[in-house]
Amino acid sequence: MLMLNSRRTSPPRTRRALGAGLAGLLALTGVTALAGTADAATTLASAAAAKGRYFGTAVAAGHLGEAPYVSTLNTEFDSVTPENEMKWDAVEATRNSFNFSAADRIVSHAQSRGMKVRGHTLVWHSQLPSWVSGLGATDLRAAMNNHINQVMGHYKGKIHSWDVVNEAFQDGSSGARRSSPFQDKLGNGFIEEAFRTARAADPAAKLCYNDYNTDGINAKSNAVYNMVKDFKARGVPIDCVGFQSHFNSASPVPADYQANLQRFADLGVEVQITELDIEGSGTSQATSYGNVVKACLAVTRCTGITVWGITDKYSWRASGTPLLFDSNYNKKPAYTAVLSALGGSSGGGDGGGSGAACTATYAKAEEWSDRFNGRVTITAGSKAISTWSVTVTLTPPQKISTTWNGTPSWDSSGNVMTMKPNGNGNLAAGASTSFGFTVMKNGTSTPPVIGSCTAS
Ligand code: G3I
Repeated sequence: MLMLNSRRTSPPRTRRALGAGLAGLLALTGVTALAGTADAATTLASAAAAKGRYFGTAVAAGHLGEAPYVSTLNTEFDSVTPENEMKWDAVEATRNSFNFSAADRIVSHAQSRGMKVRGHTLVWHSQLPSWVSGLGATDLRAAMNNHINQVMGHYKGKIHSWDVVNEAFQDGSSGARRSSPFQDKLGNGFIEEAFRTARAADPAAKLCYNDYNTDGINAKSNAVYNMVKDFKARGVPIDCVGFQSHFNSASPVPADYQANLQRFADLGVEVQITELDIEGSGTSQATSYGNVVKACLAVTRCTGITVWGITDKYSWRASGTPLLFDSNYNKKPAYTAVLSALGGSSGGGDGGGSGAACTATYAKAEEWSDRFNGRVTITAGSKAISTWSVTVTLTPPQKISTTWNGTPSWDSSGNVMTMKPNGNGNLAAGASTSFGFTVMKNGTSTPPVIGSCTAS
């Protein structure tokens, strides 16, 4: 067995909390020198926390049994949004009969890790059971308010922000409300009523209006803007506007994205980026992601960013590979760009989203009944590097029994190995080296999660 004789460090969540706490202390004392230390900003959440923001992801309860999914979630994110589990069809498929089991699994996971939870969503025309659409106005109003009261009541005190009403405006130039059972039967007042009910149901939760194609200044965002302005003027309770931010080549990050966020913030509400994903790959995807993060950081009231999923393979539009981790949970250039834009460590990368200083790719080699060999190939980016560092995270009770072609050190849990060179640190631009290790399965064959390569 390997000797675990390296310096002990705290597990990831503890490190993150310490990092965030330290950042706050330093801000109070006016000391900023530690902002760039490795522990403060090697994950999306810790880098965002150092900027006073959360960094979240949509989560599906059905994937919480998959070790690399959970490991990536726990390491990189400090806020979760149930992707489908809190929607009307999931929690109240039958009138006044509530099933919170799937959503509860996500909330308890988040709470046990100290993560925030965004509630999504209370009143939406989609994923709405047919019994709701079939109600007359009086019944529908009662059902809407009961739904808000029951769901918010169940999670009272546990939800950071609720998407109270989702996607209530039409696309296009009309700026009109979208036809829905709520709009058609209750009229324009349904949004205001939903927000008033929500405030009473959980006064501590931030109440958000959430929509898509409102990311730039256009007819639809103007209509939402006017509604929020009116709500603020009349004292209708609203705390936040969510900008879903689903982008692709046909709908790129708008040039006036930041200006749009700012004009909403100037109304006195928080702005949150709630469902970010950007189809594409490589440098162009990375640049767009970096631009979104920079826009949020430039707006004081932009309090957090949520990406709409962890890994491309589970995205609602998986073929567009829109997320920060590929299907094998490898960090993509988009990840590096986001981390860099947040002020985190991109391992000597150029910070502009044009590629990392080095990349790490994992492959399983030989396998036996009780163990398998893994190989990680390190490849230098467009510049020569003189050293590199990569983490390898195991699924307990797996253990690494031996390593070669690298110098390992371990965290206190014994599950995270940081590998550095053993005479193979110098790589010319584009050149590769590899290190290997043997994983004792101890009953689980799950592949390890490989962190991004950092270099200098
Ligand atoms: O759970 C059922 C499963 O039992 C069934 O076998 C399967 C067969 O189709 O469907 C499963 O439900 C699917 C559900 O996702 C859970 O996987 C639905 O068909 C599918 O329509 C649903 O898609 C979700 C979509 O909202 C529905 O509108 C996506 O996962 C979810 O990412 C997406 O999220 C929305 C936000 O809530 C609002 N903004 C836009 C965003 C993207 O569309």
